Amino acid sequence: MAFQNYRWGTAGIGGMFGLSMTITLFFPSFDFRSAESTWVGLDKSMSNGRTIGFSYEDPTVTGQGKPLTVILNKDPKTGATIDPPVRAYVYRPGTPFASPLNHPDNLGPTVKRLSIDKGKIDQAVKAQGAVFTINHADVNGEEWAYAENASVTRGWTVDAALSTAGDANTKYVGRGKSIYIHEGCWWCHTLLPEHTQDWQVFGTPPYLGDFNGEMPTAFGSDRKAPDILHVASRNSSREWMMMHFFNPRLVQPNSIMPRFDYLWGRVDVNGNPIDFSTWRKEYTAYRKGERPYPPEVPEYARNAEIRALIDWVLTSLK
Ligand code: HEC
Repeated sequence: MAFQNYRWGTAGIGGMFGLSMTITLFFPSFDFRSAESTWVGLDKSMSNGRTIGFSYEDPTVTGQGKPLTVILNKDPKTGATIDPPVRAYVYRPGTPFASPLNHPDNLGPTVKRLSIDKGKIDQAVKAQGAVFTINHADVNGEEWAYAENASVTRGWTVDAALSTAGDANTKYVGRGKSIYIHEGCWWCHTLLPEHTQDWQVFGTPPYLGDFNGEMPTAFGSDRKAPDILHVASRNSSREWMMMHFFNPRLVQPNSIMPRFDYLWGRVDVNGNPIDFSTWRKEYTAYRKGERPYPPEVPEYARNAEIRALIDWVLTSLK
């Protein structure tokens, strides 16, 4: 039989394929564009930077080209006290902007309008770098968070923001999230408390607008360990995190979590080589009951991967 005899069938299948493609590709854009970003959504996307998944900019997901999150208790321009301190997101010249800064549609209609009209985010230039903050505005009696380009609205320069914060208040949050991904923490942990008893143990499940522009979200799907979305609000101790990452058995004797001591790198904060084998010998002796205390966990170097990971855990996950 000639092919033409099937033309109704062919047209029907073509039509159905077209319709399903329209639904798949086009309809979600209504959802994305109408979801308004929350403070959490703005914080996550601006501290993580443009890409966090596998990309040509950072193919091995080592956290290159990320912004820095700084905690400011003084205005970098005027020196006036800021109380309570605010977070700012420092994009040094050339650091790729987070997707909602490049594509404000991702912020949702109201947050987009506020971020452009009041926040001047469209005036930021990647080659020059910029400092962003999150501000709040009242629209018809409702409070909204929006992104602000503080380099334009407050005259905050990249250098002034970094030197005002100093090393102690500079957090490598974006790089830390990359480490969470390349170390595969998501095989065991989730970042998604659910609408179940989770509420009581792991805290509030996220809102839709908490994810605008976050890429990837790294929810995790199968939980073998606690949800850590809000871990910093139940445990904010950097010392505990250091011990737990160096060897989880130091704080949880039967933990199944692997040790991440290699994230310390080769040298400690003073530039001295870390002697892992002596550490392990002493630790084994401690486990056998041959010494009363475990060996001390080395202080990490300023640019160690573990610092970035702990910065992400303690700064971003609240
Ligand atoms: C093999 C599974 C596994 C992997 C992989 C793993 N963890 Fe864990 N993690 C656990 C378990 C189990 C716990 C519960 C406490 C314990 O046993 O140490 C835990 C506890 C934690 C806690 C404290 C949670 C709380 O509620 O106080 C944090 C933070 C954490 N892990 C972060 C990480 C990060 C970051 C990575 C990746 C670098 C990682 N974990 C990789 C299993 C894992």
